[in-house]
Amino acid sequence: MALQVDRTVPTAAADVSPYDAELERIEIELLLEGVYRQYGFDFRAYAYASIRRRLWKRIEAEGLATVSALQDRVLHEPQMMERLLLDLSINVTAMFRDPTFYRAFRQHVVPLLRTYPFIRIWHAGCATGEEVYSMAILLQEEGLYERCRLYATDINEVVLQKAKEGIFPVDRMQEYTENYIAAGGKKAFSDYYLAKYGGALFDPSLTKNVVFSLHNLVTDRSFSEFNVILCRNVMIYFDKALQGKVHRLFYESLAMFGILAVGNRESLRFSPHEDRYEQINGPDKIYRKAR
Ligand SMILES: C[S@@+](CC[C@H](N)C(=O)[O-])C[C@H]1O[C@@H](n2cnc3c(N)ncnc32)[C@H](O)[C@@H]1O
Repeated sequence: MALQVDRTVPTAAADVSPYDAELERIEIELLLEGVYRQYGFDFRAYAYASIRRRLWKRIEAEGLATVSALQDRVLHEPQMMERLLLDLSINVTAMFRDPTFYRAFRQHVVPLLRTYPFIRIWHAGCATGEEVYSMAILLQEEGLYERCRLYATDINEVVLQKAKEGIFPVDRMQEYTENYIAAGGKKAFSDYYLAKYGGALFDPSLTKNVVFSLHNLVTDRSFSEFNVILCRNVMIYFDKALQGKVHRLFYESLAMFGILAVGNRESLRFSPHEDRYEQINGPDKIYRKAR
């Protein structure tokens, strides 16, 4: 069998012995299987190209030469798994990220939520929590916060801890202020935080009704019935079959007429229940469970 050689592997070792693409795939699959069986993190159905890039980033950072060498270290050193998890889980986020989403949420979803006595909102894949604090601010401004319980979940304990602390880099406040204004914010953004501990400490009232918890979308089940589920910029890293599986979980976790919001580069295309949702706002990827 003719084996393909991939000369683009981003490692110095590749210059010495070019990496064989088929062998590399075997090694990556074995590593991901090992990570799942040893630690319970299931990355086996994440988008291959992205996983591969991130594994090589870690291999290089550790001064290793092969995927198998990384596997050896990961399986025997839990600290290496912690570092790899940070690479694989991609925690990039921002406050009022994609401000038009929050504007659309105020305009189209808030009036629906006003009709409910109690509102359960699930932020699945919340990373360091910026999205949750943004939603808490919006709900406070709309007078709905007291009726809400927000569940903020992620697979990564390190980022969840940061989310709980509510201290964000002060050098991002300029960008966040602009986002907040573009999102239709009603006050001065600086009313919500104090510059402290070398960061911006957000008002603890914002997390009064928030439950932070570990939850893995791939391996864990639903834990309640929700009126709103936000899973933005998470499934983008999953392959199509896994996207379908997670969409099923969301469909089953949403109350009738519940709202599902995904990231602006995502859609319900791989939802097994696509035809059971109606679009509330297409460009901002807000859907409503209709049947
Ligand atoms: C790019 S961040 C998105 C954060 C936020 N939702 C936003 O849009 O700004 C993706 C997050 O999804 C989390 N994640 C990845 N796989 C996950 C899984 N299987 N279950 C739960 N969270 C996951 C990562 O740890 C990361 O914090």
